Amino acid sequence: MGTDKDTKVNVFTNNNGLEILIRRCNLDDLDGVIEVNEKELPEDYPYFFYKSILDNFSESFLIAQNSSGKTVGYIMWRVEKTPSLDSLRYTSKGHLVSIAVSKDYRKKGIAKSLMSNSMVAVKRYKIHEYVLEVRVSNNNAVKLYEQFNFQIGNIKKNYYRDGENAYFMTLKT
Ligand SMILES: CC(C)(COP(=O)(O)OP(=O)(O)OC[C@H]1O[C@@H](n2cnc3c(N)ncnc32)[C@H](O)[C@@H]1OP(=O)(O)O)[C@@H](O)C(=O)NCCC(=O)NCCS
Repeated sequence: MGTDKDTKVNVFTNNNGLEILIRRCNLDDLDGVIEVNEKELPEDYPYFFYKSILDNFSESFLIAQNSSGKTVGYIMWRVEKTPSLDSLRYTSKGHLVSIAVSKDYRKKGIAKSLMSNSMVAVKRYKIHEYVLEVRVSNNNAVKLYEQFNFQIGNIKKNYYRDGENAYFMTLKT
């Protein structure tokens, strides 16, 4: 586990005086992350999945904490290497695995702060591109990603367990 200096990424106060700490996730935070995920998203993952993201890509696994220390949001990425189409090299992609903010804390700039801080962090893994999938009905999330200049590439049919399609969105680093 890092020191406070190692893990603190950003503290921001929004227009309403709400103070939120954005920092790297550590092992003790995983239960809080899972709680937010299970409340806010239909896609749940087993504990070992979060743990493996934390073990391998901890720099870009961030949480948002309120002033009482409660986790109210998180973002996690993984890095994937795929063979390049036009050379024998590999392309590294930062793949946004999941982002969520608790309902009571939405529309306060928390997701924007999680995105901007984690995109800088995941770039340190020397990625060439950021990629993500998002439900075609999730207008709020699509708007968020467009603010960061992600563009809709193609549609992945039946991507989600309930059959909904996903937009595949990408951004070159
Ligand atoms: C998508 C989500 C993470 C946004 O979190 P948030 O902290 O409320 O977002 P922010 O306050 O930082 O807003 C960032 C931008 O997202 C878009 N956005 C977010 N919520 C919105 C809403 N209710 N209506 C319209 N746009 C919205 C806007 O572009 C906004 O920028 P703006 O305030 O300058 O207009 C949040 O709604 C959430 O957790 N949803 C459930 C989980 C989810 O869908 N995750 C994404 C899976 S791919």
